This record gives sequence, C-alpha cells and structure tokens, in this order.
Amino acid sequence: MKKTLFLLVLSGPLLAQSVSLPVPALIPAPQTLEPGKGTFTITAQTRLNVLTPVAAVRRMVTDNLPGIPLSDRTIPNSRPITVRLAAVSGVGPEGYDLSIRPTGILLTAPEAAGLFYGLQTLRQLLPVANSRNGQLLTTTKGQRIPALHIRDQPRFGWRGLMLDVSRHFFDKAFVMRYIDQMAQYKFNIFHWHLTDDQGWRIEIKSLPRLTQVGAWRVPRTGAWGDIENPMPGESTSYGGYYTQEDIREVVRYAADRHITVVPEIDMPGHMMAAIAAYPELTCGNKPVLIPTNGKFYKLEDNTLNPCEDSTFLFVDKVFTEVAALFPGPYIHVGGDEAFKGFWAQCADCKPLMAANSLRTVEELQSYFIKRVETIVQAKGKKLIGWDEILEGGLAPNATVMSWRGMKGGTEAARQGHPVIMTPAQHCYLDLYQGEPTAEPSTYSMCRLTDSYAFEPVPDSVRTELILGGQGNLWTESVPNGRHAEYMTWPRAFALADVLWTPKGRKNWPDFVSRVEAHFRRFDAAGINYAQSLYNPIVAVKKPPLGFYNVFLSHELPDAFLYYTTDSTIPDDRSLLYTKPFLMPKGASLLKVIAYRNGKPIGRMVELTADDLQKRLK
Ligand code: ACM
Repeated sequence: MKKTLFLLVLSGPLLAQSVSLPVPALIPAPQTLEPGKGTFTITAQTRLNVLTPVAAVRRMVTDNLPGIPLSDRTIPNSRPITVRLAAVSGVGPEGYDLSIRPTGILLTAPEAAGLFYGLQTLRQLLPVANSRNGQLLTTTKGQRIPALHIRDQPRFGWRGLMLDVSRHFFDKAFVMRYIDQMAQYKFNIFHWHLTDDQGWRIEIKSLPRLTQVGAWRVPRTGAWGDIENPMPGESTSYGGYYTQEDIREVVRYAADRHITVVPEIDMPGHMMAAIAAYPELTCGNKPVLIPTNGKFYKLEDNTLNPCEDSTFLFVDKVFTEVAALFPGPYIHVGGDEAFKGFWAQCADCKPLMAANSLRTVEELQSYFIKRVETIVQAKGKKLIGWDEILEGGLAPNATVMSWRGMKGGTEAARQGHPVIMTPAQHCYLDLYQGEPTAEPSTYSMCRLTDSYAFEPVPDSVRTELILGGQGNLWTESVPNGRHAEYMTWPRAFALADVLWTPKGRKNWPDFVSRVEAHFRRFDAAGINYAQSLYNPIVAVKKPPLGFYNVFLSHELPDAFLYYTTDSTIPDDRSLLYTKPFLMPKGASLLKVIAYRNGKPIGRMVELTADDLQKRLK
C-alpha cells in the first residue's frame, strides 16, 4: 500500500517538472533535435495563443490541436502553446522552430507551411488516444510531452505520393483520407493519376463522353494477368469519376494541408478509356471496349493520333478545364509506355513526318509532346512527363519524372531540366514488399529496406535540379482503399524520411523502431499497413558445385530464423539459420519462421522444392 502511494506521488507534477520522458518516435526524423529537461503537461488551463490575425492560420492551428481552447491574451502562469509567424534564422518557408519547456510551448515559423509541419511534429509528440475516420487524433488533458528543441526543414521541396485512380476507382472520401495521412508525414505533393486505359476519372464538361463512357467498365476481379476481357454487350457497371465540384473540394482539402495536387492526364498512350468514348482520337478510328486488364497492349491502338489537328484540339479542351481546376503550377502529361507500332502504319503520319523531318516514331512522340507543351504553357502551366519524353528529344521546358531507374532523370538533369526521381526499385508502391507467397500477387519487389535506401540525387548532377521524389501507387492489383493503405505504409514512412531528413542520417534499427511506434498509432486510428517486414526472406543461389544453396535473411536486425526441411512446423527448437545450406536430398518442403525476443513474428514461409528451383539465381 505504502509503495503504491509513493509511486502515485512520484508520477504527479513533481515528476513532470524534473524527469525527462523519452522522445517519441518522429517520422520524418527532424533536422535537429535537442532533448531538454522536464516535461510539458497539457491541463484544463492550457490555451492556444496564436499570434496572428490570419483566419486560415488560426483555423489550421485549432484543427490540428483539437480540444485546446484558443486565447488571444497571454494568461499569467497559464503555460500556453504559443504559435507565431516570424523569421527563424537558417530556416526556409517550410521550416519551423519548436521549443517545448515545462513552462510552455513555442512554435515559430516564417510561413504557414512551416507552422503546419511544426504542428504535425507536435501531434506526433502527443500520444494517440482514439481515432476518427482514419485520422490520428490526440487527446489533450493530462498529456505529457518531453521538453525539447527542434529546428527543422525539409531536404527536398517535392515530397510526393501518386495514386492511380484509373485501374481501380477510389472515391472522393478515400482520396481525402489518403491526403490526410500524407499530410501527417509532411508530404506536400499529391500526384493524381486521373486517366488511363481502364478508366477516365475527371469530368470534362466540353467532352461529356469521357466520363459518360470512359469512366465505366465491366466488373471483373482476380489477378490482373488472368482477368478476362470484356464481352460486347456486357453492362459497364464498375467505375466512377470525380465531378468538377469534387475536384475543387479535394484541391481545397489538400491546400488546407499544404499539399499541391498535380493532375496527370496520361498521353499519347494509356488512352483507351478516352478512345472508347471518342474512337476518332486514334489513327485507326476503331471502336473499342474499355479494357479490364492489360492484355490488349500492342494488339489494340491505345494512343492518340499525333498527326491530326483535331487531336490537339481535344488536348486543348481537356487542358483548358484541367488548368482551371488545379491552381498548382504543373500538369503531368504522362508520355510513358506509348506503343508506337500503329503510328508507323498510319496514313496521316507519313506526310506529317516527312514535312517535319521526323525520322522515327520516337521523334514523332517528341513532336507530339512539344505541341502539348505549347498548349500546357498557354494555360499558364508547366509540363511534367515520365522519362520516355526524353526519347526523340525533350520538350524545351519539361520537367522529367524518372521511373525506369535513375538514368532518365540523370540524363534530363545533364540537359539542364528539373527532375523528380521515382525509380521503381525504390518508389513503386505497387510491388511486393516481402515474401511473395505471403502477399497478393504483383510483379516485382520493393522492400521497406529498398525504399529506405533510396537516394534521390545521383553523383555528378546539379543538386538543385533534383526537385525531390515520390512514391507511386499503381492500382492494377489494388482493388480497394484498405489495400491501398496496405501498399502505401510503411514504405511511405521510408520515403518521408528520405525526402525530408538530411542526407547521411540513415540508421535502419532506429528507423524500424520509429516505424513500429507509428504502427501503434495506425492501429489506434484504424489505418491499414503491411507487416511484410516481419516475414523471412528466402533466396536461392547456385553454389560453385552441386545442387543449390538456400540463403535466409530478415529485414529486422534482431530476428532469428528457424527452419525445417522435413515438412514439420518450425519453432525455436528447429534448426537455427546461421549460414547458407543445401536442401537435403529428397526434401520436398522448406519452412521458415522468424523469432524476435523469444516470440514468433511474421508469417511462416513455406516453399516447395519447385518454388525454390524457380528462385534460383
Ligand atoms: C509507369 O510506370 N508507366 C510510369
């Protein structure tokens, strides 16, 4: 009894004043953090003292710290949370200074964006209590925050995530939820992939068939590669689109969170949904159904006809409306994976190519993108394209988004163009993130370690031309919002760190411990995430002699791996993996389980001898 009383006394205000708490896990890690002495406690008397009359800033502060009343006066001894717009030495527009002392909190930033990021840091310093619609909420009274001083700003100005809403449609509510999650990790670009072969998702009032026809396809489920083609006459009941009012609402919602929305209208390829609506957009002028898969590629023409003025009239109409809806400076015009085989046969293209001295279809695509750039610029916007727009010559003012590795981005920067790095092996959120037999089917691998290893600036390029990077969530195999979250997190945690935190500060065990702390926050908020990093990794390599060697590994630094080759279920009394081994003669199954701190973690991986043979490298 006495002991309990003693503990109760110690955990009261005395402790709060004198003992430091551990600093909670922050993602992204800030530029500088100095721990202080003691803690700040939020009480019923705590007030928000916002020293700016700007209504939008005042609303931003109260939205981010719900439950703490606003006060315009500094009340003596009230230990306020003071927020002010003022210069901070050495800090740019997105930077902030956050000082937490037992006597009060002071958040200073030169601009609203910096204040917003400071508020996100403060929210992460507060424990999570409960959830609302996937938002991370904080309670207020009685919460203690360790004293500290953070001065922070991002490494890159472009910290993006892309969501493909064409292959599967994600409604406005989900898009806003996704933007909300992004904002809490200080992403500032939402790249909205609005059109592709399998669906056109943005209302264009002057071209109503784009959504009347182009937004709807026949319903299908299953692994992308196996999905059946649509049949003529089948009802096109799957899909959806955003009205222009929906788009304005999403753009405003994002702007309130300091996120710029970059719309992508992918052309000249990836245009099947538009072609289903307006067949005259292609060289062949052939009616098509909206595909349910990717099997049509190279068999049906999904490219705009680059040799007809009417195509550029279409592009002009689309971009007139797109430019009016999105206040940001950029329009992304795609440019990727355009199959040009139909152009080579096109009656319209032969005279145009001759008249413009275009020797190859790559030069014809370059001609197309240059004309599109003129249209984009006439609307007051700047053009971004995937790295294929380098082929045949870059448009004069293009920004390049490099996805086929870093090569395209490096070459574009060498030519003096701005670049956003999104190399698939680090940034593609549609890829496997762990043992493939434990994941829904996709086509390649990008582990959490791969995302964390991303370095956006290649050697020998001008650093200022690398605007930043982003994660891309293509959704051929992502049929719903729950799975979109699973594919995004935790890899987007890694990208948030890469794009915000100074170079040279990577520390994998520290990052893992921060990720796991944020898993607990996501649990409280009902946000989905992948736990693939807990699964064993199995690789098979050919030894110099004999059969093949099995290599086991794990992303966690403190995991132990146990395995069997006799078809029994492994546990921590089974063989401990210490070095590569040969499968015994006649063994038909390998089973592997990971343990951490004496407890099994992740999935048990089970592979047949045939599976292993297929993994042979
Ligand atoms: C892309 O992945 N086709 C940009």
